[in-house]
Amino acid sequence: MPTLLVTGGCGFIGSNFVRHLLATDPATQIINFDALTYAGNLANLTDVVKHPRYTFVRGDVTDREQVRAAMGRGVTDVIHFAAESHVDRSIQDSGPFLKTNVIGTQVLLDAAREFGVKRYVQVSTDEVYGSLGDTGLFTEHTPLHPNSPYSASKAAADLLVQAYQHTFGLHAVITRCSNNYGPYQFPEKLIPLFVSNLLADQQVPVYGDGMQVRDWIHVLDHCRGVEAAWRKGRSGEVYNFGGRCEKANLHLTHLLLELLGKPKSLIKYVADRLGHDRRYAIDCTKAERELGWAPQVPFETGLRETIEWYRANAAWVAAIKNKDYLAYYEKQYGGR
Ligand code: NAD
Ligand code: DAU
Repeated sequence: MPTLLVTGGCGFIGSNFVRHLLATDPATQIINFDALTYAGNLANLTDVVKHPRYTFVRGDVTDREQVRAAMGRGVTDVIHFAAESHVDRSIQDSGPFLKTNVIGTQVLLDAAREFGVKRYVQVSTDEVYGSLGDTGLFTEHTPLHPNSPYSASKAAADLLVQAYQHTFGLHAVITRCSNNYGPYQFPEKLIPLFVSNLLADQQVPVYGDGMQVRDWIHVLDHCRGVEAAWRKGRSGEVYNFGGRCEKANLHLTHLLLELLGKPKSLIKYVADRLGHDRRYAIDCTKAERELGWAPQVPFETGLRETIEWYRANAAWVAAIKNKDYLAYYEKQYGGR
């Protein structure tokens, strides 16, 4: 029976992945290793906390001894989601991004070698490819051209993974996905921020002219892709995942206003993000061909369900926005 170390399992994608795998794979033990930073939330997994194949370990991927202790629980496979993930925060302060995303990956790779891990998956991002013009798609052969401190730290981590695969023969696969949306996404990212603000009749800050384009994919489609890469990916290969769903931010904002029945006056144009990437779009034919994967959730269906999830989970959003969830950690763990 595989014992899978999932790092960052208390975040948005990691928690969706843990729930998905527990529901669909009766043979895998999951150890969720998460530092519980501001983005990690135990409330994202309250429904599985007592599951017999699930264990939570609080730990930091940059801490060698904590990582080794977790690996020593019989880990056979690793899926590395843990990261500092928000571009705007990386522009404010790149330090935590270099530490967690680069050093954390190095520590994990060393431990994977030491403990003879069979399969290692690095969850990366399409942002490592930089920005596209009006046409074209990112393929796995697009040269790396990261533009933000976040994407630079993710690209550096990808290069380390490739170096460990080449030098030490570690079985390692890299996935690069476009923009995810769905339940449990921290309300600093566009869709959960805008939906939660609009539900409360608050304004939504559109950066610059709002004509930047992102390729949206439902988080469960991404999780299924990561799972396929783990099970079937060839060592040393990169697999792109995307939703074939390009939307300009402003058009997406108009769609959200329409679905929520809110007026355009709630749009607030604000200063642009520094170095803002103009367009991302993914060619995911390699993953379709080699992994038998394809995005399944139609965008409007997924978006409507996501809006309803945020409406039904207003308390989850409120606890984050008023930082109540941090007090919960203080009580549970005596400080962060
Ligand atoms: P998130 O910010 O919601 O969650 C990150 C998780 O990692 C949190 O639970 C946090 O506590 C944990 N973490 C952070 N630093 C840690 C450390 N030092 N040690 C252990 N745990 C730590 O992020 P997300 O949106 O779920 O993204 C997960 C991964 O997917 C990231 O690697 C990100 O780069 C990648 N990704 C995200 C998207 C997206 O649209 N959100 C798209 C493609 C790829
Ligand atoms: O492409 C994958 C990446 O998608 C992941 O690697 C990142 O972890 C994830 O955060 C996301 O990065 P983006 O920067 O694209 O996502 P974000 O939700 O921050 O912004 C989406 C777009 O919306 C982007 O063009 C900036 C814009 N935006 C964002 C926010 C938060 C606004 O106009 N206003 C906002 O308030």
